[in-house]
Parts: sequence; structure tokens; C-alpha cells
Amino acid sequence: MEHKFNRTLVTAALPYANGGVHIGHLAGVYVPADIYTRYLRLKGREVLYVCGSDEHGVPITIRARKEGCTPQDVVDRYHKLIKESFEGFGISFDVYSRTSSETHHKTAADFFRRLYDKGEFVERESEQYYDEEAQTFLADRYITGECPHCHAEGAYGDQCEKCGTALSPTELINPKSAVSGSKPVLRKTKHWYLPLDKHQAWLEPWITEQHREWRSNVMGQCKSWFDMGLQPRAVSRDLDWGIPVPVEGADGKVLYVWFDAPIGYISNTKELLPDTWEKWWKQPDTRLVHFIGKDNIVFHCIVFPAMLKAEGSYILPDNVPSNEFLNLEDDKISTSRNWAVWLHEYLVDMPGKQDVLRYVLTANAPETKDNNFTWRDFQARNNNELVAVYGNFVNRALQLTKKYYDGIVPAAGTLTEYDLETIREFRGVKEQVEKLIEEFRFRDAQKEAMNLARIGNKYLADSEPWKVIKTDPERVKTVINLSLQLVANLAIAFEPFLPFSSERLRDMLNVERPEWDRLGSTDLLPEGHQLNEPALLFEKIEDAVIEAQIQKLLDTKKANEAAAYKANPVRQDIAFEDFEKLDIRVGTVVECERVPKADKLLRFLIADGLENRTIVSGIAKHYNPEDLIGKQVCFIANLPPRKLRGIESQGMILSAENFDGGLSVLTVDREVKPGSEVK
Ligand code: MF3
Ligand code: ZN
Repeated sequence: MEHKFNRTLVTAALPYANGGVHIGHLAGVYVPADIYTRYLRLKGREVLYVCGSDEHGVPITIRARKEGCTPQDVVDRYHKLIKESFEGFGISFDVYSRTSSETHHKTAADFFRRLYDKGEFVERESEQYYDEEAQTFLADRYITGECPHCHAEGAYGDQCEKCGTALSPTELINPKSAVSGSKPVLRKTKHWYLPLDKHQAWLEPWITEQHREWRSNVMGQCKSWFDMGLQPRAVSRDLDWGIPVPVEGADGKVLYVWFDAPIGYISNTKELLPDTWEKWWKQPDTRLVHFIGKDNIVFHCIVFPAMLKAEGSYILPDNVPSNEFLNLEDDKISTSRNWAVWLHEYLVDMPGKQDVLRYVLTANAPETKDNNFTWRDFQARNNNELVAVYGNFVNRALQLTKKYYDGIVPAAGTLTEYDLETIREFRGVKEQVEKLIEEFRFRDAQKEAMNLARIGNKYLADSEPWKVIKTDPERVKTVINLSLQLVANLAIAFEPFLPFSSERLRDMLNVERPEWDRLGSTDLLPEGHQLNEPALLFEKIEDAVIEAQIQKLLDTKKANEAAAYKANPVRQDIAFEDFEKLDIRVGTVVECERVPKADKLLRFLIADGLENRTIVSGIAKHYNPEDLIGKQVCFIANLPPRKLRGIESQGMILSAENFDGGLSVLTVDREVKPGSEVK
């Protein structure tokens, strides 16, 4: 496989410039891609690492409207913040540009135009909501209304955030324009579609047969898209922020953000290498690798390849290593709930500790399943691994050299059988790390690198130079020499993972950056070489530092609770007679089971004192049905029956909603007769 490629083009998903970047971004995409490219560079391979900000799309316009500024203001602000955050963590992009750039606008427009001229699109008319007052078509997110499933107010045209159901705008009950507040009307509009249905014939075998090596999470998603059958996808939108559709009669239309953003990889390469970019995108001996998060799989494995193929002159990705998600303290990372560790804040709160976060995120990388970041684990990995294993070994080796030899590398002397065994052991590390990195298994690769330090610690502990110095000083020279060679090996092995620490270590060792292929050598430091003053490579992190970070998250939780309360203020007074109209009763749950094909609904059979009545309730996400059987619950008994998924529901079970959206059914404190009134 390998021999057919002469260079590697690595891309990392372009982050949206409508917020900062957090640990989830870093762990999922930018650190793994950085490890990979740093490794290839150290190997002396030709490689390019391309990224930039994704600056189009509706959320950016919504944020601008909320903040009373222009979309350009929004992206200018976040582009700068994101770029600086990445720099702070040593993410070694060769280029970090942006999709609002001139180069990109032209590249994306030309790309569209070429597909258009080749007849690669189909044109379709559809009906879309239009705001007559504001005279604009409305993006799905700009329409709100009542959710047809859970009947919450304020559901968006693409999703109800209360019950999580995906919606289309025409499903909303009483739709309202978020721009003017008026009632939108349906109007005909024309868009261009990429006929993915036609591309399936080559896409499917290309992925499922020719790329069996893709990660199983990636393959799984692709297969499920193929099984459903690919559909044409609109590549234009009625919107005033984005790249104008370069076709006559397309006034007020822009390229869909997911059409222009991946072309950003090409534009940014062009910006960096205006004369030679085509070599990277059009020569079949270039290996294209996309690093992404799992919500981007369909766009990088199916849509973008179809675009490239339709264009005709581009190569296709050879691999798309996608990660799953990282959670924070057992909760989904969320920008809107501010549940995140923001990189720009970390850089201020934990100066000089970029490598610690890189280390912990790789150690917990969500490579095969969602994973969890906790501050306690962060502290433990720093104190028990970076400090106690890696740092400790380096420090002991350097301090002993200083003490016995004034910091000058002693001669190697005669190696014992034990020395040779140690050397054999650490020589094997190189091959292991290489194999794992090339398979995109970065957490295992980093573990292997750490093994070098474990080998070193064991070697020192077994050899006991501090004792032997009194009886056999010649032997100690050998032990220290070999230990120092191991330290120098660590600086190489960790270079892709922990670049800041490797650089500091090289400073202490007084050496230049050696090539990767020297890893495993025992002559990295010549006899007589003068080392610099040793310093601690890693420092213990105290409880107070961690507790401050945990407190910060607790404060966020509190602020979210308060905000949720405000969003749901105590409603207006009602007349007592109105309250009396409600017939609230207690019933005993006789049966309870999931409603097939509805992941939110439970069907209850409730003994209500007279008979058994059926009630359907949207709490399936919060309970095991079996756990509710036999419980006494409160329900409203005099609502008109309503059909949900074909089942007639005769009433409504009452639940309390926790601030985080969790639901808890109302029960009674002491058992009562079924049918008892609640008053
Ligand atoms: N901005 C998108 C996201 O954060 C990723 C875009 S990747 C690209 O999910 F390919 F479109 F550039
Ligand atoms: Zn809903």
C-alpha cells in the first residue's frame, strides 16, 4: 500500500468561527492530526497539515443578530481566538486560513461553476418558508413554533431541543419567523442538488470494498447511509451570508456551508503554495487523510468525495480517521450550556501546561468509543505518570550525571548481559510506536513511548548507581551513560506527542532535534558531551488547582440552573376555578413498555380506580419501563384523548423537569387507593 504514496496531505476539520475551541475539539481532531504530521515530518516525509476557520453557515448569522453586529465581526473575533488557541497548544498547521478569504471565495465559486457547467447538478423547485415582512427566505433555524411531538413551544425548524426530535420547518405548529416575528408563508424557490443517488454506484464499493481498513465507526456510518439509499443533497441556500451562487438568476442564494467548507482545504493549500498546490490535490501519489469528529463523517466520506469525483481532476481521501466524542465530567460537552474546558481559558489558568493536556487527551482519546475527561483523572495522570514515571526518570538520570560527572556524559564502558537486555527492550519501542501511529492508534502509541521511561526507571532501580558508586565507579559510568541515552530517546519518542517537553528536554541535554530514525540508538549523546543545568520536566499539580477548575464547572452548572429557571418563569396567575377544572388523579402502573420505533415514548396501563386506561408519555429516555411497574403516579384524567404513534393516550402523566432536562415522575408519599384525587 505504502509505496504508492510519496507525500501526505493531512487535513483537520475546519472549526466553525462562532465560538472558541475546547478540549473535545483538541482530543477529537487537532491533537491526533498533529501527532500524525509531527511524526511524518520527523521521519523526513513530505507532509502538509492544512486547516482554517469555517466562517459561513446560519449559526454565525444568528449569533451576529443576537449580538447586534455583522457576521464578519463574529468570524473575525473567533478566527483570531481559535488561531491563537491552536498556536498555544503547538498544533503545527502549515497553514491556518479562513473561508471568508478572497482565495476561498474564488476557489469555491469556480468549483461550483465547473460542476454546474459539466451538468453535475440537478435543479429542483421546492416550497420554503418566506418572511414577507423582512422579505427573506428563512433558514430552518430561523423558524420556531410548537413541536408536533412534545408540544413544547420554541422548537426550531430543524430540531426540537426539548425532546430532541429532528424536524422539518413545515412540521412546526404555528410557525413564527425569528427575524420579524411574523407568520411565514410558503414560497417556491429553486436550488441545486448534488445527485448522490447517482454517485452511490461507485461510492459504495469504493468504501466498503476498497477501504476495508477504515475505522469501524466510520465504516458503520457509511454503510448505514448506503443502506438507506443516498438522496440528492441541496448545495445552495437562500441566505445573505456566504459565497454567492455563481450562476445567473441566483440572486439571494449562497453556497451551502457544507459545500464550501471542505473546499476550504483546497483554498488554504492554494494560499500557502500558490504555484505547487495542485501536486497536493491532483497527483495520485499524494495520500489525502482527513481528521474529523464523528458528526462530520458523512460529509467527508460521501459528500466531499462525490464533489471531488464530479469535478474530475482531484484525488480522493485514502483514510478518514474519525473520533467519537469526549465528554466532560460525565456530561456531554456543550457550547450553549458552556459545559467545556475552553482552550483559551486553560492557557491562562494553567500556563506552561499545554503538554499535560495533550498527554491526558491522548491517553483518553475517544478513538473507539465516547470517552470522558475529568479533572481528577487529569491530576492523577500528571502526578502518577508524567511526574512519577517520565519526569522522575529524567530527573534522576540528569541529577546523578551532575553529581558524579559535573554534567558530562561518561564513557559507556563494558555492557553487561542486563544492559544488553535493557537495550533490546527499548529498541523494540520504535517499531511499536511507528506501527501504532501509522494505524492511527495514538493512545496506544503514547503508552508505548511511556514504556521507555518505565524501562529507564526499572533500569536505574535495579542498577542502584547510588550504592555501586562506592564499590565499582567504572560500572556507574556505564549505567549513567545508558540512562542518558534512554533520556535522549525519550525526547525523540515524545516529540510528536509532547513537543514542548521534548524541546525543554533537548535544551537540558544540549542537543538539536535528532531524526526519528535515530530512535532506539545508544549513541545519541557522545562521551564527553556537556549537558545543561537540569530542571524539572513536569510538576506535581496540587489539589487546590484542580478544585478551582471543578469549582468553575460547578459555577457553570449553577448559572445554567438559574438561566433555566428564568426561561421558565412562574406563569401568570389563574383563577381558582380554572385550577379546579383539572382532574388530577393517582393511578397504579399495571403495565409499562417502550413504544416501538419511538425512542422517547412509553406506553402505560394505569389502574385508575374504575378501569385500566392507556397513557403514552415521553419519558422513555429517563426510565427503564420495568422499574415503573407497581409505582403510583399522578396524571391528568380529564384531557381529551390524543393519538401518539397510533396509540390513543387517555391523559397525561405528570413529571418534574430537572434543570438539565432530566424527568422524574410524580409519585405519592404514602400508598393511596387508585383513582384518589390530587387537590
Ligand atoms: N465546521 C464543521 C464542524 O465544526 C467542520 C467543517 S469540516 C470541512 O463541524 F470539511 F467542511 F471543512
Ligand atoms: Zn419536541
